Amino acid sequence: MKIDIVSVFPEYFDVLGLSLFGKAQAKGLVEVAAHNLRDWTHDVHHSVDDTPVGGGAGMVMKPVVWSECLDELLGLDARDISEIITDDAAAAAADGEPVIDDTGDVAAAPRTVLIFPNPSAPLFTQQDATELSHADRLVFGCGRYEGYDARIPEYYRAQGVDVREYSIGDYVLNGGEVAVSVMLEAITRLLPGFMGNAESIVTESYTGENALLEHRQYTKPATWRGIGVPDVLLSGDHGKVDRFRRDESLAKTDRLRPDLIERLDCKALDKADRKT
Ligand code: ADE
Repeated sequence: MKIDIVSVFPEYFDVLGLSLFGKAQAKGLVEVAAHNLRDWTHDVHHSVDDTPVGGGAGMVMKPVVWSECLDELLGLDARDISEIITDDAAAAAADGEPVIDDTGDVAAAPRTVLIFPNPSAPLFTQQDATELSHADRLVFGCGRYEGYDARIPEYYRAQGVDVREYSIGDYVLNGGEVAVSVMLEAITRLLPGFMGNAESIVTESYTGENALLEHRQYTKPATWRGIGVPDVLLSGDHGKVDRFRRDESLAKTDRLRPDLIERLDCKALDKADRKT
């Protein structure tokens, strides 16, 4: 997977040389380039932002600089789209609706996806991470200040680019860099060969159609500072251990994240689950 990240602080991503991500780069599973947005400016101050149209606090990132950068990275020519973009198309593009192909079907698995972190966008979920792990190339644009001009995602959607905007949580960060790091890790750890133990991905929280919070985990010793592990885990009876863990997942999810229980597909629950 090829990954481009555009930021005014590309050094933020130096850490990607470390740990599993560093190994994945060495193995050729991922190829990452962090670009400085200011490299696409032409003024002496290398300015990337301007005051908001309509007034208000803070600064907004300029579409002119972003478009020079993104056109180059995506291999697109600059266009004036005023004649092809209808009000309906603009509204759909602005809302981030999926791109519809000529046959009316929702476009198949993405090849290149342009992603902007944005606190005012839909929440990024494990399902999004799974879908995006099948892309060939991801281009991330990190906003700063009061964000980026809203026409940037709109324009690239109108060019047929698969553009996504995601929030990583209901809080506001100083910029998109941390959000990109979070999304990047959630996506790339799903790439075949990225994790040492692929099985651990299958059992962890938020995974699969029936996403539940993961049960508690213990290691040795069996008793530590007077606290023992649940007896059933020492029984050697795999059926009982699986049942115990499943019950715990269901109860914990019900207690901490009832919204996930509501979204559960009842057809996938077994009889014993229903008693829990
Ligand atoms: N930029 C600032 N805050 C953010 C958030 N919560 N999610 C994504 N991008 C952001």
